[in-house]
Amino acid sequence: MIKVDISNVWGQLTLPELLATEKDVAAAHMTLTQGTGEGNDFLGWLDLPKTEETDEMRRIRLAADRIRENSDVFVVIGIGGSYLGPRAAIELMQGVNHNIGKGKGNPQIFFAGNSLSTRHWNELQRLLEGKDFSIAIISTSGTTTEPAISTRALRWMLERKYGTDGARKRIYAITDPCKGALRQMAGEEGWETFVIPPDVGGRYSVLTAVGLLPMAVAGIDILKVMQGAAQAKKDYDLRSFENPVWQYAGVRNALYKKGKVMELFESFEPGFKMFGGWWQQLFGETEGKDGKGIFPVTAELTPDLHSLGQMIQQGERNIFETMVRFDAPENKMVIGEDVKNLDGLNYLAGKTLDFVDEKAFLGTVAAHVDGGVPVMTMDMGELNDAKLGEMFYFLELCCGVSAYILGVNPFNQPGVELYKRNMFRLLGKPGYEDK
Ligand code: PA5
Repeated sequence: MIKVDISNVWGQLTLPELLATEKDVAAAHMTLTQGTGEGNDFLGWLDLPKTEETDEMRRIRLAADRIRENSDVFVVIGIGGSYLGPRAAIELMQGVNHNIGKGKGNPQIFFAGNSLSTRHWNELQRLLEGKDFSIAIISTSGTTTEPAISTRALRWMLERKYGTDGARKRIYAITDPCKGALRQMAGEEGWETFVIPPDVGGRYSVLTAVGLLPMAVAGIDILKVMQGAAQAKKDYDLRSFENPVWQYAGVRNALYKKGKVMELFESFEPGFKMFGGWWQQLFGETEGKDGKGIFPVTAELTPDLHSLGQMIQQGERNIFETMVRFDAPENKMVIGEDVKNLDGLNYLAGKTLDFVDEKAFLGTVAAHVDGGVPVMTMDMGELNDAKLGEMFYFLELCCGVSAYILGVNPFNQPGVELYKRNMFRLLGKPGYEDK
């Protein structure tokens, strides 16, 4: 199980203050699991985990096998909840350089439709030159501007390269089962489709085909991911402060009440950055409403200690940190002995990189706690496919509980819709002239 260590928050929070939240935490957990709160028509994610392969998962696995076999590159189109989960999963499991040296049999995976950058588009065009490729279009609505533009362009590239019939076999649509522009397009064009259940919001969709198809193409065992999530569903149902979900959700809300309005969610793994981005959307879109919410920020340690470190240590005292830790991998890097020792590093000769990392972690926690910043540690244990599923489900659960404690609807995002509507009006989209 994931362990949450809250021993480094006590300088800023007292045990009675935490225990005073118990009633609210228990009520929030109950509201979530019994489906009695606001937004309860979006609770489908609670039941996504599976212990055995479903028909949808089998189709995902077969599609992934096909893509792996016939493509040098797989392009995943989507934004927000239709993008962050799969990218987070792949980069966490395989690192930020996972594409290097890949091709047919184990294709490179690029993401498109997540910005309006012409430079990014030009780069993708260059990367696709002379390559066999397939695409997955992920969008509930099918009308979000960024992915819609990329879809149009990539689909035409495929049709020019393989003809309409050939292209059809290389386009996969992941969308609502019945409605929306992408559903209609896929039906008319005969693309293979996978479902985003209507009761699962974008930011809670990583354990649907949204996350599973790209993960399977990357070679991640999606059955293990789902089994890890299923185990999490059981393990984290505990109704007491022994439950790490209660500890995390309870402490962050208690700290918020004491003016800690910003959370830094960090890890010492470079591959964790996009996972932090996924977490940021999950908590940001879930909690940031009605003038409330803890501002979620993700950071990468140790690099960001050399940029944000000063601010964390001595800036405004309105932040707390959650540091995510993993067991060290078996393959060790041992620091060598150098005869000249000009860098003075010989005192570490024979020690592993993990050893140094551990001390950096402990030193950082001690410094930040001294500086008045409460720090929680989330110890994930060994990182593997099942753990990935466990982490996704655990954090989604924490987020739902936390938002109900805060007193907001965890499952809408009216602010995001406003930006989309304004952009449509400024672009002159028919029907949005006076919106
Ligand atoms: O979490 C959400 O609901 C959003 O981030 C959406 O996923 C994002 O705006 C993309 O929308 P769509 O999937 O309709 O293209």
